Amino acid sequence: MTAAPAIASHLPVTLRINGRDHPVLVEPRRTLLDALRHDLALTGTKKVCDMGNCGACTVAVDGQAMYACLLLAVDCDGREITTIEGVADGNTLDPVQQAFIEHDAFQCGFCTPGQIMNLRVFLDQHDDPTDAQIERAITGNLCRCGAYPNIAKAARRAVELRAAQRQAAASPSGGQ
Ligand code: FES
Ligand code: FES
Repeated sequence: MTAAPAIASHLPVTLRINGRDHPVLVEPRRTLLDALRHDLALTGTKKVCDMGNCGACTVAVDGQAMYACLLLAVDCDGREITTIEGVADGNTLDPVQQAFIEHDAFQCGFCTPGQIMNLRVFLDQHDDPTDAQIERAITGNLCRCGAYPNIAKAARRAVELRAAQRQAAASPSGGQ
């Protein structure tokens, strides 16, 4: 009788996160969310439902907002992943982070990283969204504290901050 072929319990994967390559060994069933949190200690991405219902685990993958609990780490090999840890520029907050603080757009804060990641991608795709578009954009991220009115205000403020940032970058001094 021939022995069954051995199945690799862990596979080598390179996760490119926030501009840095992270070689990791993961089980084929490991989600991107668990790889981020448990293998790479990037705990800013939150686990709540772990089944694609709440949006707390939202990250950007190749420029699209995705639920990290629904992605396998092995399928993310070589893809460009951005997590909440990668959005600030040193001590300078991302405009969406800044807007959340200005508008007090959180209570417990547990949904906040996912909200911010989702809104960043949305605003990358919509320079000047309507209120209705903003309201629709934030419905994929569940906020159990009901902070939606302030999240919507923060989104509108982030539109202004991003426009000012673009304008400064386009000025002859390049915002210096
Ligand atoms: S933890 Fe991923 S959608 Fe809820
Ligand atoms: S701020 Fe608590 S869940 Fe959104």
